[in-house]
Amino acid sequence: MPANVSRCRVCKEPAVIDLPRHNAHFCGEHLVQLCNRQMAKAIEDWEMFTPQDRLLVAVSGGKDSLAVWDMLVAAGYQADGLYLGLGIGEYSDDSGGYVRRFADERGLKLITVDLRADYGYDVPTAAVATKRVPCSACGLSKRHLFDRAAVDGGYDAVVTGHNLDDEAAVLFGNTLRWEIDYLGRQLPVLPAANGFPRKCKPLVRLTERETAAYCLIRGIDYVVEECPMAAGNRHLAYKEALNSIEQQSPGAKAAFYLNFLTKMSPLLAGSTAAARGDVGTCGRCGAPTTGDVCAFCRLIEKSSTHEAVPVEFVLDKRIRR
Ligand code: AMP
Ligand code: FES
Ligand code: ZN
Ligand code: ZN
Repeated sequence: MPANVSRCRVCKEPAVIDLPRHNAHFCGEHLVQLCNRQMAKAIEDWEMFTPQDRLLVAVSGGKDSLAVWDMLVAAGYQADGLYLGLGIGEYSDDSGGYVRRFADERGLKLITVDLRADYGYDVPTAAVATKRVPCSACGLSKRHLFDRAAVDGGYDAVVTGHNLDDEAAVLFGNTLRWEIDYLGRQLPVLPAANGFPRKCKPLVRLTERETAAYCLIRGIDYVVEECPMAAGNRHLAYKEALNSIEQQSPGAKAAFYLNFLTKMSPLLAGSTAAARGDVGTCGRCGAPTTGDVCAFCRLIEKSSTHEAVPVEFVLDKRIRR
Protein backbone atom coordinates (compact mmCIF):
# COMPACT_ATOMS: atom_id res chain seq x y z
CA MET A 1 0.00 0.00 0.00
CA PRO A 2 1.34 3.49 -0.84
CA ALA A 3 2.80 5.35 2.12
CA ASN A 4 0.55 8.39 1.62
CA VAL A 5 -2.75 6.51 2.23
CA SER A 6 -4.71 8.21 5.05
CA ARG A 7 -5.18 6.01 8.06
CA CYS A 8 -7.91 5.67 10.67
CA ARG A 9 -7.15 7.60 13.85
CA VAL A 10 -8.27 4.65 15.98
CA CYS A 11 -7.01 1.46 14.29
CA LYS A 12 -4.53 2.80 11.70
CA GLU A 13 -6.22 0.82 8.90
CA PRO A 14 -6.89 2.69 5.61
CA ALA A 15 -9.47 5.43 6.16
CA VAL A 16 -12.69 5.94 4.19
CA ILE A 17 -13.45 9.50 5.33
CA ASP A 18 -11.61 12.56 6.58
CA LEU A 19 -13.32 14.78 9.14
CA PRO A 20 -11.44 18.10 9.28
CA ARG A 21 -13.46 19.30 12.29
CA HIS A 22 -12.11 16.33 14.28
CA ASN A 23 -8.74 16.75 12.57
CA ALA A 24 -8.80 13.01 11.82
CA HIS A 25 -9.54 10.21 9.35
CA PHE A 26 -11.66 7.15 10.11
CA CYS A 27 -12.19 3.65 8.70
CA GLY A 28 -15.77 2.43 8.17
CA GLU A 29 -16.02 0.61 11.49
CA HIS A 30 -14.75 3.56 13.51
CA LEU A 31 -16.86 6.09 11.63
CA VAL A 32 -19.92 4.04 12.67
CA GLN A 33 -18.59 3.99 16.22
CA LEU A 34 -18.09 7.78 16.14
CA CYS A 35 -21.69 8.30 14.94
CA ASN A 36 -23.06 6.02 17.66
CA ARG A 37 -21.02 7.83 20.31
CA GLN A 38 -22.09 11.27 19.15
CA MET A 39 -25.74 10.17 19.24
CA ALA A 40 -25.31 8.62 22.70
CA LYS A 41 -23.70 11.85 23.95
CA ALA A 42 -26.58 13.96 22.64
CA ILE A 43 -29.16 11.64 24.23
CA GLU A 44 -27.32 11.73 27.55
CA ASP A 45 -26.37 15.43 27.63
CA TRP A 46 -29.91 16.60 26.95
CA GLU A 47 -31.65 13.70 28.77
CA MET A 48 -33.69 12.88 25.68
CA PHE A 49 -35.06 9.43 26.59
CA THR A 50 -34.26 6.08 28.20
CA PRO A 51 -34.48 2.47 26.91
CA GLN A 52 -37.84 2.21 28.73
CA ASP A 53 -39.38 4.95 26.54
CA ARG A 54 -41.40 4.10 23.41
CA LEU A 55 -40.08 6.24 20.55
CA LEU A 56 -41.78 7.25 17.32
CA VAL A 57 -39.14 8.05 14.68
CA ALA A 58 -40.35 10.30 11.84
CA VAL A 59 -38.69 8.83 8.75
CA SER A 60 -38.65 10.66 5.43
CA GLY A 61 -36.63 8.10 3.43
CA GLY A 62 -33.59 10.40 3.53
CA LYS A 63 -30.22 9.54 5.04
CA ASP A 64 -30.62 11.26 8.41
CA SER A 65 -33.92 9.79 9.55
CA LEU A 66 -33.05 6.27 8.33
CA ALA A 67 -29.66 6.57 10.06
CA VAL A 68 -31.18 7.65 13.37
CA TRP A 69 -33.75 4.84 13.25
CA ASP A 70 -30.98 2.34 12.51
CA MET A 71 -28.73 3.66 15.30
CA LEU A 72 -31.55 3.69 17.87
CA VAL A 73 -32.60 0.12 17.09
CA ALA A 74 -28.95 -1.02 17.18
CA ALA A 75 -28.54 0.68 20.57
CA GLY A 76 -31.53 -1.28 21.94
CA TYR A 77 -34.17 1.46 21.99
CA GLN A 78 -37.84 0.69 21.30
CA ALA A 79 -38.33 2.67 18.10
CA ASP A 80 -41.23 2.48 15.63
CA GLY A 81 -41.30 4.52 12.40
CA LEU A 82 -43.75 7.08 11.06
CA TYR A 83 -43.87 8.02 7.38
CA LEU A 84 -46.00 10.90 6.15
CA GLY A 85 -46.96 10.87 2.44
CA LEU A 86 -46.81 14.51 1.36
CA GLY A 87 -48.05 13.96 -2.21
CA ILE A 88 -45.02 15.59 -3.86
CA GLY A 89 -45.24 13.49 -7.06
CA GLU A 90 -42.51 10.96 -7.78
CA TYR A 91 -40.33 12.28 -4.95
CA SER A 92 -42.89 11.17 -2.35
CA ASP A 93 -43.48 7.81 -4.08
CA ASP A 94 -39.74 7.09 -4.08
CA SER A 95 -39.21 8.27 -0.48
CA GLY A 96 -42.05 6.08 0.81
CA GLY A 97 -40.54 3.10 -1.03
CA TYR A 98 -37.18 3.49 0.75
CA VAL A 99 -38.86 3.75 4.15
CA ARG A 100 -41.08 0.70 3.60
CA ARG A 101 -38.15 -1.41 2.36
CA PHE A 102 -36.01 -0.39 5.34
CA ALA A 103 -38.79 -1.34 7.78
CA ASP A 104 -39.70 -4.61 5.99
CA GLU A 105 -36.12 -5.82 5.74
CA ARG A 106 -35.62 -5.35 9.48
CA GLY A 107 -39.08 -6.36 10.66
CA LEU A 108 -39.71 -2.92 12.19
CA LYS A 109 -43.13 -1.40 12.79
CA LEU A 110 -43.99 1.48 10.45
CA ILE A 111 -47.03 3.75 10.78
CA THR A 112 -48.01 5.60 7.59
CA VAL A 113 -50.18 8.66 7.20
CA ASP A 114 -51.07 10.10 3.80
CA LEU A 115 -52.10 13.74 3.40
CA ARG A 116 -54.26 13.12 0.31
CA ALA A 117 -55.92 9.88 1.48
CA ASP A 118 -56.38 10.88 5.11
CA TYR A 119 -56.87 14.67 4.96
CA GLY A 120 -57.97 15.41 1.38
CA TYR A 121 -55.02 17.54 0.23
CA ASP A 122 -51.33 17.35 -0.62
CA VAL A 123 -48.41 19.79 -0.39
CA PRO A 124 -48.56 21.17 -3.98
CA THR A 125 -52.31 21.81 -3.63
CA ALA A 126 -51.87 23.42 -0.23
CA ALA A 127 -49.15 25.71 -1.63
CA VAL A 128 -51.51 27.02 -4.32
CA ALA A 129 -54.55 27.17 -2.02
CA THR A 130 -52.68 29.18 0.64
CA LYS A 131 -50.57 31.21 -1.85
CA ARG A 132 -47.49 30.46 0.23
CA VAL A 133 -44.24 28.57 -0.37
CA PRO A 134 -44.75 24.76 -0.34
CA CYS A 135 -42.42 24.31 2.67
CA SER A 136 -44.83 26.32 4.79
CA ALA A 137 -47.81 23.89 4.47
CA CYS A 138 -45.36 21.00 4.47
CA GLY A 139 -43.74 21.99 7.77
CA LEU A 140 -47.07 22.73 9.41
CA SER A 141 -48.53 19.36 8.33
CA LYS A 142 -45.45 17.49 9.55
CA ARG A 143 -45.39 19.14 12.97
CA HIS A 144 -49.09 18.61 13.56
CA LEU A 145 -49.26 15.02 12.32
CA PHE A 146 -46.07 13.87 14.05
CA ASP A 147 -47.52 15.18 17.33
CA ARG A 148 -50.91 13.62 16.71
CA ALA A 149 -49.48 10.19 15.78
CA ALA A 150 -47.30 10.19 18.92
CA VAL A 151 -50.15 11.18 21.23
CA ASP A 152 -52.62 8.72 19.61
CA GLY A 153 -50.10 5.87 19.73
CA GLY A 154 -49.11 6.53 23.34
CA TYR A 155 -45.46 7.15 22.46
CA ASP A 156 -43.16 8.87 24.94
CA ALA A 157 -41.32 10.97 22.36
CA VAL A 158 -41.14 11.91 18.68
CA VAL A 159 -37.65 11.57 17.18
CA THR A 160 -36.55 13.36 14.00
CA GLY A 161 -33.37 13.10 11.94
CA HIS A 162 -32.40 16.80 12.12
CA ASN A 163 -28.60 17.00 11.95
CA LEU A 164 -25.99 19.64 12.77
CA ASP A 165 -26.21 21.22 9.29
CA ASP A 166 -30.01 21.56 9.60
CA GLU A 167 -29.90 23.04 13.08
CA ALA A 168 -27.04 25.44 12.35
CA ALA A 169 -28.86 26.68 9.22
CA VAL A 170 -32.10 27.26 11.13
CA LEU A 171 -30.16 29.02 13.88
CA PHE A 172 -28.44 31.20 11.28
CA GLY A 173 -31.79 32.21 9.74
CA ASN A 174 -33.42 32.90 13.10
CA THR A 175 -30.43 34.95 14.22
CA LEU A 176 -30.39 37.02 11.04
CA ARG A 177 -33.94 38.08 11.85
CA TRP A 178 -33.61 37.92 15.67
CA GLU A 179 -36.63 35.64 15.90
CA ILE A 180 -36.58 35.43 19.68
CA ASP A 181 -39.59 33.12 19.98
CA TYR A 182 -38.09 30.61 17.53
CA LEU A 183 -34.63 30.94 19.05
CA GLY A 184 -36.11 30.19 22.47
CA ARG A 185 -37.58 26.94 21.16
CA GLN A 186 -34.58 25.80 19.14
CA LEU A 187 -33.46 23.00 21.45
CA PRO A 188 -32.42 19.40 20.74
CA VAL A 189 -35.16 18.25 23.09
CA LEU A 190 -38.49 19.90 23.83
CA PRO A 191 -40.25 18.42 26.86
CA ALA A 192 -43.88 17.29 26.60
CA ALA A 193 -46.04 20.29 27.47
CA ASN A 194 -49.51 21.71 26.86
CA GLY A 195 -50.63 18.55 25.00
CA PHE A 196 -47.52 18.40 22.77
CA PRO A 197 -45.40 15.23 22.98
CA ARG A 198 -41.68 15.34 23.80
CA LYS A 199 -39.56 16.00 20.69
CA CYS A 200 -35.96 14.90 20.30
CA LYS A 201 -33.20 15.37 17.74
CA PRO A 202 -30.47 12.83 18.59
CA LEU A 203 -28.33 13.61 15.52
CA VAL A 204 -27.60 17.27 16.27
CA ARG A 205 -23.92 16.45 16.87
CA LEU A 206 -23.51 14.84 13.39
CA THR A 207 -23.17 16.53 10.00
CA GLU A 208 -24.98 15.38 6.87
CA ARG A 209 -21.70 14.19 5.42
CA GLU A 210 -21.27 11.93 8.43
CA THR A 211 -24.81 10.51 8.28
CA ALA A 212 -24.42 9.89 4.52
CA ALA A 213 -21.18 7.98 5.19
CA TYR A 214 -22.91 6.06 8.01
CA CYS A 215 -25.67 4.92 5.60
CA LEU A 216 -23.13 3.91 2.97
CA ILE A 217 -21.14 1.82 5.43
CA ARG A 218 -24.25 0.23 6.96
CA GLY A 219 -25.73 -0.54 3.51
CA ILE A 220 -28.79 1.66 4.03
CA ASP A 221 -30.46 2.73 0.77
CA TYR A 222 -31.97 6.19 0.96
CA VAL A 223 -33.53 8.75 -1.37
CA VAL A 224 -30.63 10.92 -2.54
CA GLU A 225 -32.64 13.62 -4.31
CA GLU A 226 -33.69 16.63 -2.29
CA CYS A 227 -37.34 17.63 -2.30
CA PRO A 228 -37.96 19.35 -5.68
CA MET A 229 -39.98 22.07 -3.96
CA ALA A 230 -37.13 23.04 -1.65
CA ALA A 231 -34.86 24.18 -4.52
CA GLY A 232 -33.82 27.78 -4.07
CA ASN A 233 -35.21 28.20 -0.56
CA ARG A 234 -33.47 30.25 2.13
CA HIS A 235 -32.62 27.25 4.26
CA LEU A 236 -30.39 25.83 1.50
CA ALA A 237 -28.71 29.22 1.02
CA TYR A 238 -27.91 29.36 4.77
CA LYS A 239 -26.43 25.86 4.58
CA GLU A 240 -24.17 26.92 1.71
CA ALA A 241 -23.06 30.04 3.55
CA LEU A 242 -22.18 28.02 6.65
CA ASN A 243 -20.36 25.41 4.54
CA SER A 244 -18.13 28.06 3.05
CA ILE A 245 -17.30 29.37 6.54
CA GLU A 246 -16.69 25.78 7.70
CA GLN A 247 -14.26 25.25 4.85
CA GLN A 248 -12.22 28.22 6.00
CA SER A 249 -12.36 27.26 9.67
CA PRO A 250 -13.24 23.63 10.36
CA GLY A 251 -15.39 23.30 13.48
CA ALA A 252 -17.01 26.74 13.12
CA LYS A 253 -20.45 25.25 12.38
CA ALA A 254 -20.45 22.98 15.43
CA ALA A 255 -19.19 25.83 17.62
CA PHE A 256 -21.88 28.19 16.32
CA TYR A 257 -24.69 25.75 17.15
CA LEU A 258 -23.38 23.93 20.23
CA ASN A 259 -22.22 27.15 21.92
CA PHE A 260 -25.63 28.68 21.22
CA LEU A 261 -27.13 25.80 23.21
CA THR A 262 -24.82 26.17 26.18
CA LYS A 263 -24.37 29.95 26.27
CA MET A 264 -27.41 31.59 24.67
CA SER A 265 -30.37 29.20 25.09
CA PRO A 266 -30.43 29.50 28.89
CA LEU A 267 -30.79 33.30 28.55
CA LEU A 268 -33.85 32.85 26.32
CA ALA A 269 -35.66 30.32 28.51
CA GLY A 270 -39.15 31.47 29.41
CA SER A 271 -39.47 33.89 26.49
CA THR A 272 -41.65 31.68 24.22
CA ALA A 273 -45.44 31.71 23.89
CA ALA A 274 -45.63 28.16 25.25
CA ALA A 275 -43.52 29.09 28.27
CA ARG A 276 -45.76 32.09 28.92
CA GLY A 277 -48.73 29.67 29.02
CA ASP A 278 -50.55 31.31 26.07
CA VAL A 279 -51.64 27.87 24.78
CA GLY A 280 -55.27 26.73 24.54
CA THR A 281 -57.07 23.95 22.66
CA CYS A 282 -58.24 23.89 19.03
CA GLY A 283 -62.06 23.96 18.90
CA ARG A 284 -62.07 21.48 15.99
CA CYS A 285 -59.35 18.87 16.54
CA GLY A 286 -58.41 19.37 20.19
CA ALA A 287 -54.75 20.05 19.38
CA PRO A 288 -52.87 22.65 21.42
CA THR A 289 -52.95 26.09 19.82
CA THR A 290 -52.57 29.75 20.67
CA GLY A 291 -55.77 30.64 18.69
CA ASP A 292 -59.37 29.29 18.66
CA VAL A 293 -58.79 27.01 15.66
CA CYS A 294 -55.33 25.57 15.07
CA ALA A 295 -53.29 26.39 11.97
CA PHE A 296 -53.57 22.80 10.73
CA CYS A 297 -57.38 22.83 10.78
CA ARG A 298 -57.33 26.15 8.92
CA LEU A 299 -54.95 24.61 6.38
CA ILE A 300 -57.29 21.61 5.82
CA GLU A 301 -60.24 23.95 5.38
CA LYS A 302 -58.48 25.89 2.62
CA SER A 303 -56.65 23.04 0.88
CA SER A 304 -59.09 20.12 0.90
CA THR A 305 -61.74 22.17 -0.89
CA HIS A 306 -59.26 23.25 -3.61
CA GLU A 307 -59.01 21.21 -6.80
CA ALA A 308 -55.93 18.93 -6.78
CA VAL A 309 -52.81 20.64 -8.17
CA PRO A 310 -50.01 18.51 -9.69
CA VAL A 311 -46.47 19.09 -8.41
CA GLU A 312 -45.29 20.10 -11.94
CA PHE A 313 -47.63 23.08 -11.92
CA VAL A 314 -46.09 24.49 -8.75
CA LEU A 315 -42.55 23.83 -9.99
CA ASP A 316 -43.23 25.56 -13.34
CA LYS A 317 -44.68 28.56 -11.57
CA ARG A 318 -41.69 28.81 -9.26
CA ILE A 319 -39.21 28.60 -12.15
CA ARG A 320 -41.00 31.30 -14.13
CA ARG A 321 -41.15 33.65 -11.15
P1 AMP B 1 -36.95 18.18 6.78
O1 AMP B 1 -38.02 18.99 7.42
O2 AMP B 1 -37.31 17.66 5.43
O3 AMP B 1 -35.59 18.78 6.88
O4 AMP B 1 -36.87 16.87 7.67
C1 AMP B 1 -36.51 16.91 9.02
C2 AMP B 1 -36.91 15.63 9.68
O5 AMP B 1 -38.33 15.50 9.65
C3 AMP B 1 -36.39 14.36 9.01
O6 AMP B 1 -35.10 14.04 9.46
C4 AMP B 1 -37.40 13.35 9.44
O7 AMP B 1 -37.16 12.91 10.75
C5 AMP B 1 -38.69 14.14 9.45
N1 AMP B 1 -39.43 14.04 8.17
C6 AMP B 1 -39.32 14.83 7.08
N2 AMP B 1 -40.18 14.46 6.10
C7 AMP B 1 -40.87 13.41 6.60
C8 AMP B 1 -41.91 12.58 6.10
N3 AMP B 1 -42.44 12.77 4.87
N4 AMP B 1 -42.39 11.59 6.89
C9 AMP B 1 -41.89 11.40 8.13
N5 AMP B 1 -40.90 12.14 8.65
C10 AMP B 1 -40.39 13.13 7.91
FE1 FES C 1 -41.68 19.83 2.43
FE2 FES C 1 -40.33 19.76 0.31
S1 FES C 1 -40.26 18.35 1.93
S2 FES C 1 -41.89 21.15 0.74
ZN1 ZN D 1 -10.49 2.27 12.33
ZN1 ZN E 1 -57.17 21.84 14.94
